[in-house]
Amino acid sequence: MNGILSLIGHTPLLKLERFLGHEHFNLYAKLELLNPGGSIKDRPAVQMLMEAWQAGEINQDTTIIESSSGNLGIGLAQACAYLGLKFICVADARTTKVNCRIMQAYGAVLDLVTEPDPEVGTLLAARIKRVQHLLESISNSFNCNQYANRNNPLAHHQTMREILESLDQRVDYLFCATSTCGTLRGCADYLAQHGFERTKIIAVDAEGSVIFGDKTKPRLIPGHGAGVVPALFRPGLEDDYVLVSDLDCVVGCHRLLHSEAILAGGSSGGVMSAILKLQDQLPQGSNCVAIICDRGERYLDTIYDDVWVSEHFGDVAHLWQPSALM
Ligand SMILES: Cc1ncc(COP(=O)(O)O)c(C=O)c1O
Repeated sequence: MNGILSLIGHTPLLKLERFLGHEHFNLYAKLELLNPGGSIKDRPAVQMLMEAWQAGEINQDTTIIESSSGNLGIGLAQACAYLGLKFICVADARTTKVNCRIMQAYGAVLDLVTEPDPEVGTLLAARIKRVQHLLESISNSFNCNQYANRNNPLAHHQTMREILESLDQRVDYLFCATSTCGTLRGCADYLAQHGFERTKIIAVDAEGSVIFGDKTKPRLIPGHGAGVVPALFRPGLEDDYVLVSDLDCVVGCHRLLHSEAILAGGSSGGVMSAILKLQDQLPQGSNCVAIICDRGERYLDTIYDDVWVSEHFGDVAHLWQPSALM
């Protein structure tokens, strides 16, 4: 890969010295937020396009069509801008203004679905139908379909390889947020295929997401979680899982910001809260890695907005004040 796309991946692994306030185990952050498009989704975006190109499924005149309201849309918008491909992103009314503007700045066309599907009753179903309609009406169009595309998890073999290389192959725990389960599946498959039995994966999902059998309910923080079980998921990819609430995500984000000066997105806050929940079970001296999926700037109007936080959770700032961090 050339140009800006050549900078995707090989993100730093940073030792977090302050977040825990103790050193029973070693905590590292895989800083996927430093990918050029701002998230871990740069990896599958490029991998899905490059593999489709090599397989002859797309060419210079193809229109890429994807349903995404977040980071994959931005990753594809970046890759399509560099490769000179047309990109239509099907999003909905819940897509944040900032994400829409980032995609548009890269040159993506936004196709906004405003009404839930009349038969199924959800915006997700309406978006999927809209993608089908566009694929049928635009000749030479292509849908990556991140929920079922094997190149989504395959992109994360490299994520896992990089983490292992950074720690001399000695990783005891990997905490990873889940949505399409591309990251979980890719990291788990890599570990299994290369005999890394020592490494345990802790999946971190949202309360109200159905991946691990929770009952669906409205969620405030985008990124992690899913309303239908993704085709990429298999039970047992994870060694354990933790469900985190929206408040857990907010608290984890602010604790990360106050202790380490890292401005990260909502799922990263969830991952950090999950580590706090399990910290007493993690053995002394073990190496524990948290994947920090995206940048915090995309959450300035929510997680990092005092008014939004107090409207949804009340007075919670004491949960991340320095005294609570000790
Ligand atoms: C911020 C964030 N965290 C976590 C995830 C989950 O990653 P995956 O789709 O690989 O399960 C996503 C997916 O879009 C995301 O955008």
